[in-house]
Amino acid sequence: MIMPPNRYLIAAGPTREPIDPVRYIGNRSSGRLGVALADAAARRGHATTLLLGPSGVFPSDPSVLTERFERAEELERLIRDRLHDRDIFIMAAAVADYRPRTRQADKIRREGPSLTIELEQVPDILAGLADVRRPHQLIVGFALEPRSKLLESAQAKLERKQVDMIVANPLETMDATTIEALLIRHDAPPESVGSTHAPLDKQVFASMLIDRCDALLDARADSRSASP
Ligand code: C5P
Repeated sequence: MIMPPNRYLIAAGPTREPIDPVRYIGNRSSGRLGVALADAAARRGHATTLLLGPSGVFPSDPSVLTERFERAEELERLIRDRLHDRDIFIMAAAVADYRPRTRQADKIRREGPSLTIELEQVPDILAGLADVRRPHQLIVGFALEPRSKLLESAQAKLERKQVDMIVANPLETMDATTIEALLIRHDAPPESVGSTHAPLDKQVFASMLIDRCDALLDARADSRSASP
């Protein structure tokens, strides 16, 4: 049976939180995995929107609609504007946990021997979607954790963020071309993909994850149509 295309929203890349007009707090996310996910979804004929942070990697499939963000607040606005008509949202962006409480209007000068910048917590975008998401939507988050805490932290995030799947990666995944992952869901045992000895290329992993998301969405549609 040929299934109709799904509508994907994918967020990728780092955030940049400004300190002053020329400096920011960022992270080492390359955006590579999220971009590979967008290409893999588009190649399967899915309508795909990519929300892309300040990354040097871009989708190659011309049908991917790309919108850019820098700050977590901009990303949150884009997600909230675009989520309503999507079937699947994959949050592969590496969002800052803390940002400067204020942005200095002028470039900070090198004056005193030290400088203190006060940081405030960034609201959890994914967890905040629980009140706006629609029941049929499939939402996937990521968790970058030290290897020793991978399973435990990812399971806690699955509950706290109220998402359908968490892809847990060891810290080494960031800025790499390969990936090792644990897929954590409510209704299945953890599934390990790639290993320390045989990590998967991010392109290969992206194709696998899109196939998995498509299958989960189909299964959800089947169970809805089967229920009385
Ligand atoms: O809690 P932690 O940042 O480890 O969770 C990772 C997941 O949550 C990722 O999918 C990330 O994009 C998302 N996240 C978010 N808003 C934040 C921080 C992380 O949606 N402020």
